[in-house]
Amino acid sequence: MNYSRSGSVPLYLAPMVTLTHAGLRHLIAEFGGCDRYYTEMISAEAITAHSAFHRWYLDLQPEPERTVYQFLFRDAAAVKAVATKIAGRGGLGIDLNMACSAPHIVRAGGGIAWMKRVDEARRAVAAAREVLPDAHLSVKLRLGERREIEQLARFAVSLCAAGAGELTLHPKTRKEPEARPADWRFVAELQQRVAVPVVASGGVSDITTLEYRIRRYEPRAVMIGREAVRSPWIFALARNAQLVIDRLAVARRFGALLREHQPPEFQLTRAKRFYQYYTQPLQWGTRLFAALKTARSMAEIEQRVGVYFAEHPQDRYPEPSRRQHAHTVPAAAAALQ
Ligand SMILES: Cc1cc2nc3c(=O)[nH]c(=O)nc-3n(C[C@H](O)[C@H](O)[C@H](O)COP(=O)(O)O)c2cc1C
Repeated sequence: MNYSRSGSVPLYLAPMVTLTHAGLRHLIAEFGGCDRYYTEMISAEAITAHSAFHRWYLDLQPEPERTVYQFLFRDAAAVKAVATKIAGRGGLGIDLNMACSAPHIVRAGGGIAWMKRVDEARRAVAAAREVLPDAHLSVKLRLGERREIEQLARFAVSLCAAGAGELTLHPKTRKEPEARPADWRFVAELQQRVAVPVVASGGVSDITTLEYRIRRYEPRAVMIGREAVRSPWIFALARNAQLVIDRLAVARRFGALLREHQPPEFQLTRAKRFYQYYTQPLQWGTRLFAALKTARSMAEIEQRVGVYFAEHPQDRYPEPSRRQHAHTVPAAAAALQ
């Protein structure tokens, strides 16, 4: 199968806080890009209050016309204010985060906590739709408290009636941990209950799994999160691009893009978050990441990464495989050397 930008099932880069900034999006774009990118979740209140880092959060490069802002918000008024603020700035539209299960977010009434405030959630979607009548407007959801569809379907139907034009489902309950497999049967079930497309999110770790799940559950689109950090070329692989990967060259390119597209205050923490996933497929990745966590500068990170790949060349040039994390570079790869 071939999942191209014009092809069968669109593939999207999932919103991931501290990860899906313009630096990572540029890196993915250099491998030919994906069908749609999401920003990391952005606090609607902080943007409306014009926080110090506002311009970095609202940066939609490198492909603004394919990029969606994702907002975390406390009430419908915040959605209205932020939608008004971004109207006319370009971009595809906005996504409302009603999925995040991080305890501090849920305690503050954000993310999945919205499933308990059905009327206000509907008002939030309606407020966005009123301000942005023609823009992409989606909501990202989880299953809720239990592994069952009824409550979620009722909630989803009410959001669609308020103006949501698309839903994404990360099919896990609030308490299910990151490591637990996402159950795409719920994506297929929810798709039966709503007229808008339901995007599947969760658990794509290689092309074989992606193809299997697309055949079995027939989602309208798929979002890829962590694997797009472990292998920023995953979307190119899905298009059957012939790649020869040099993981060190990709790491160096990421460092350059991070410096260019993130403020100095963010660079070190964001580099560490990137390496948390990028090192996972490596033979001694756990040990390398432990060393990187204590680094005090970008230069120190880059030096340690360079030493690692010099000592482990088999990790630098992974054997091509559709099953593993490690694969290969198209024309874009040459630019990364
Ligand atoms: C580090 C990290 C940060 C995340 N941040 C967000 C976020 O900002 N907004 C959101 O809706 N989901 C967030 N997620 C969830 C992802 O979008 C995605 O639904 C989840 O990782 C499952 O997909 P995957 O298995 O392809 O990674 C985050 C996940 C991770 C691992």
